[in-house]
Amino acid sequence: MKAAYYEGNEKIRIGDCVPAPPSKGQVQIRVSHCGICGTDLHIFHGKMDGRVHFPQVMGHEMSGTIGALGDGVDGFATGDRVTVRPLDPCGHCPACRAGHSHICQNLKFIGIDAPGALQGLWTVPVHTLHRLPANLSFAQGALIEPLAVACHDVRMGEVREGEYVVVQGGGPIGTLIALVAGAQGARVLLAEVNPFRLALAKELGLETVNPRAIDLVQLVTEQTGGAGADVVFEVSGAAAGAEMMTKLPRTRGRIVVVALFPDPPAVDLFRFFWRELKLAGARVYEAVDFEAAIQLAASGTLPLDRIVTNVIPLEQLEFGFREMERGGNVMKVLVECS
Ligand SMILES: NC(=O)c1ccc[n+]([C@@H]2O[C@H](COP(=O)([O-])OP(=O)(O)OC[C@H]3O[C@@H](n4cnc5c(N)ncnc54)[C@H](O)[C@@H]3O)[C@@H](O)[C@H]2O)c1
Ligand SMILES: [Zn+2]
Ligand SMILES: [Zn+2]
Repeated sequence: MKAAYYEGNEKIRIGDCVPAPPSKGQVQIRVSHCGICGTDLHIFHGKMDGRVHFPQVMGHEMSGTIGALGDGVDGFATGDRVTVRPLDPCGHCPACRAGHSHICQNLKFIGIDAPGALQGLWTVPVHTLHRLPANLSFAQGALIEPLAVACHDVRMGEVREGEYVVVQGGGPIGTLIALVAGAQGARVLLAEVNPFRLALAKELGLETVNPRAIDLVQLVTEQTGGAGADVVFEVSGAAAGAEMMTKLPRTRGRIVVVALFPDPPAVDLFRFFWRELKLAGARVYEAVDFEAAIQLAASGTLPLDRIVTNVIPLEQLEFGFREMERGGNVMKVLVECS
């Protein structure tokens, strides 16, 4: 069994996995697949060195099989196919007490603040587990976490059937948001600038636009009879996206900020006044979003397999990061961990 250790300075070492025996309330999982996410790339680039513990095992988008149970674990057995909701809230802060434990004020994100899934054997608290239905492959199972992000975002955006939705940013998260909103009966326009991702989104049946090539405001205005979009999801994390997001909604339209902006972008607050816009933030997911993602994936209605552009062995993890950082022809990269 191997593990990928981030040692700082963009250095990954593949070494032997040092399995943690499951203690009370924990399970040990034989990891099958683990997706690489933008957050892992941030860690690889040293942007989160203050938060991770060297050598850090990253990874939080995974699927696998339970290999061992700690004391006091009920309801799961060895051999069960599972995915993990990688959140470990404190349970007593004001956010937890208010029922918002997914954004606990002392939240431990497993894979950042604790060892992650890019290893053969991974030990996690049993409360993080969700069962994978038999008709989902392990590769599809590793997409449940980002799909749960999308389900949460669409829920926070209160998207209703027949609404007109713009998604800015067609990376894995934006593409999944577009697919989930579409599955809920919205008309979706996906704005993306990367030609490979634009082409892929089109193949998935999405209506796409390159905001650098055409006037996006004019297009949305025309397509909505002069009204504007019901909901705009900002998932690009680009300054241009933050600037654009306020220009697109209708009166009393909604904006959902999903992307992370490490530096505060310029945002036109006048538009909030002028059109009485509403702004919502959306961060990770709750258990209901994981269950919704699993049901949606198992229904077979989403082209999930086609979002996976690369499946690589653990030894090629660095190659995966390099492809992502150079904006190569990749969407979701999955790593085989066992
Ligand atoms: N809210 C959460 O809990 C949560 C969870 C996961 C990821 N995220 C964040 O969501 C964002 C998207 O994640 P991802 O993995 O899809 O990232 P990504 O970097 O792969 O995708 C961003 C996409 O935006 C495109 N883009 C850049 N400028 C644009 C513009 N002006 N207009 C339209 N598109 C533009 C890029 O080409 C890229 O494809 C990131 O900021 C990520 O950190 C948030
Ligand atoms: Zn992620
Ligand atoms: Zn808390």
